[in-house]
Amino acid sequence: MQKISEIREIKLKDLRPEEFIDRQVKEISSTVGKGVAINALSGGVDSSVVTMLGHRALGNRLRTVFIDNGIMRQGEPERVVRLFDQLGVRVESIDAKDEFFGALKGLTDPEEKREAITQMFYKTVFGRIVKESKAKYLLQGTNFTDVEETVAGIKRQHNILEQLGIDTMREFGYRVIEPIIQLRKSGVRKVGEALGLPADLYDRPPFPGPALATRIIGEVTPERVATVRKATTIVDEELMDTKAFQWLAILHEDRVTGLRGNKRDFGQQIEVRCWDSTDAVTARPTKLGHETLTRIADRIVSEVPGVVSVTYNLTKKPPSTIEAI
Ligand code: XMP
Repeated sequence: MQKISEIREIKLKDLRPEEFIDRQVKEISSTVGKGVAINALSGGVDSSVVTMLGHRALGNRLRTVFIDNGIMRQGEPERVVRLFDQLGVRVESIDAKDEFFGALKGLTDPEEKREAITQMFYKTVFGRIVKESKAKYLLQGTNFTDVEETVAGIKRQHNILEQLGIDTMREFGYRVIEPIIQLRKSGVRKVGEALGLPADLYDRPPFPGPALATRIIGEVTPERVATVRKATTIVDEELMDTKAFQWLAILHEDRVTGLRGNKRDFGQQIEVRCWDSTDAVTARPTKLGHETLTRIADRIVSEVPGVVSVTYNLTKKPPSTIEAI
């Protein structure tokens, strides 16, 4: 097991994508041998790159699954399955919505929510799939920034396991292989391009493993996910053409007095964030035009039931972080 301090970054200027791909494909082949591996594809850049590396190495001895945890964006499960089908990779979609909502019920503390998602994902759902398939390996897209932020104690990234001393074989019944752990996002994108992924996949804004749960302050319920999901769709539509690194909508817990149809409406608040960054380590809010911001606010209050207030975050990272929890 590699210690967290021993993982060396490959800087963008030193990255040779073709060589990197060859090395990782060989490494995956020799580690898995004649066995079977599993990988979880979320449709983000990191897990998409790992899926392609794994398929090059193992062909149909890699079983790729999309876990529908109920906290993904609108249409995401269908989009991911369709996109990879076009790339010749079969993706199995597994419905685990009820299990995830069950685990998140009543939780409001950010770290407790993250831990519940981690346990549900790795132990319950993946533990079960791995047992059924007899796979001994899980391929996943942990990247260098995930490692760094976990070391720094900023956030316990959901995918950091073995480096924290968690023996995944003993706890979950499988080993974890992390082919892109030495790369930051910009490097992962370069490798994605070299692997022949379509640009709208390797150039996609990052999306966190714990999905919309990182954008809900307070309890994560199906109703609150539906609210933040609708706001997310609007923000995606309106900001897709900006060159920003990432954008998101956050559902707050506090309510504020609003006014609808001449009546008091003690409603919900959505915070919009849009970031300029190259590596997510530091970031600053994008200088969006007032018209764009007004259009987003108008659409959210009219299209998302129960929302009466929309704000735009002006704080840099640090001290802010990109996600809300
Ligand atoms: P933060 O919020 O830590 O995010 O500034 C840094 C980048 O990592 C993405 N990301 C995650 N963020 N938990 C997170 O909080 C995760 O498990 C995770 N996975 C990825 C995040 O979207 C941002 O780009």
